[in-house]
Amino acid sequence: MSITLDAVAAALKGIVAPNLIAGFKETAGKVLITVQMRIPLAEKPAFAGRVKEKIKAIEGVKDVFVSFAEPPQQAGEGTGGAPTPQAAGAALKESIRHIVAVGAGKGGVGKSTVSVNMAVALAQKGHKVGLLDADIYGPSAAIMTGTIGHKARGDAQQRVIPADTHGISVISIAFLMPKDQAAVVWRGPMVGKMVQQLLMGVAWGELDYLIVDLPPGTGDAVLSLSQTVPLDGAVVVTTPQDVALLDVLKAIEMFKAVKVPVIGVVENMAGFACPKCGEITDIFMSGAGEKAAEQYGLPLLGKLPLDPAVPPGGDTGQPIVIAAPESATSKAFGDIADRVKARVDELSGNGPKQFQLEWSSGV
Ligand SMILES: Nc1ncnc2c1ncn2[C@@H]1O[C@H](COP(=O)(O)OP(=O)(O)O)[C@@H](O)[C@H]1O
Ligand SMILES: [Mg+2]
Repeated sequence: MSITLDAVAAALKGIVAPNLIAGFKETAGKVLITVQMRIPLAEKPAFAGRVKEKIKAIEGVKDVFVSFAEPPQQAGEGTGGAPTPQAAGAALKESIRHIVAVGAGKGGVGKSTVSVNMAVALAQKGHKVGLLDADIYGPSAAIMTGTIGHKARGDAQQRVIPADTHGISVISIAFLMPKDQAAVVWRGPMVGKMVQQLLMGVAWGELDYLIVDLPPGTGDAVLSLSQTVPLDGAVVVTTPQDVALLDVLKAIEMFKAVKVPVIGVVENMAGFACPKCGEITDIFMSGAGEKAAEQYGLPLLGKLPLDPAVPPGGDTGQPIVIAAPESATSKAFGDIADRVKARVDELSGNGPKQFQLEWSSGV
């Protein structure tokens, strides 16, 4: 028996009416299905799981991916159709003032570390901050904030309530992922849609900044996300080595291509912070961050030393700006937060600020 739309519709009898199957595609036993139903965000994983189970029972089906589309609006609700990203973004901007993404040319450079500590640093400076962990390959921002076990519950309007920790609101794509769905199966457009739902369907409240920890690299997931989420700008994280490898250039070019302004570059693991005396020693290429910033005509937002105190904090859910707020690394995070804030204001036309970066390296 071949895997046809009719067979899928029959398998979903009693769960999804045939006219609500808005999209169907089958390739080599992989079924992609779009269901046009308005389902509370918190219930989507369970519902998708049931749909998946039914379709998997069809002979020959190896895997099933379920996505949801908004049903056409009722008469009186508007002109119909799902809101465009622009319209959705405009509605969102009423409660969230600035959305800042943190991206990198590749994984392992400290993107999540920067996202988390920058978010908490902004909160420590009195701002209302949300953190959206959109990294489908590993929810490290959720781990680093100690929120990984958070159960996504809905409020009275059926919006998901974020986790509250270290003065910030945290939502991770991991909170909503069905347990049996391996992270790697998420493809670009699905990630974009999922994150858009996370933005719209979460009870964020009023926020000054929403920091989005993007998936690493410049693949279709990041691309789709950068196109669907109304970003004010992106911070690009790099290590001195990756500057040389041009990974950072790829990330900058990608943001340019989707018209997301690059706020600036953060150079991570730039020097070694001695755990005994706090002195910072250059151990890699000196001045790589400055060179990259100059080459691409972007501000260098800051340089973070390789600090042995950073990883343990990440593992225990205590970011370094909480665990050791007086350390040189935490101060560097605070300065980065200030510069991001100044640049975002500048980009949104609220300030003419220029800044100079001071870095005492190896002295
Ligand atoms: N400045 C730093 N000093 C020491 N370790 C760091 C620093 N920045 C990141 N790390 C560690 O490097 C690893 C990768 O960082 P992470 O933020 O998860 O990277 P990414 O999100 O880019 O994959 C983590 O174990 C983290 O604790
Ligand atoms: Mg990460």
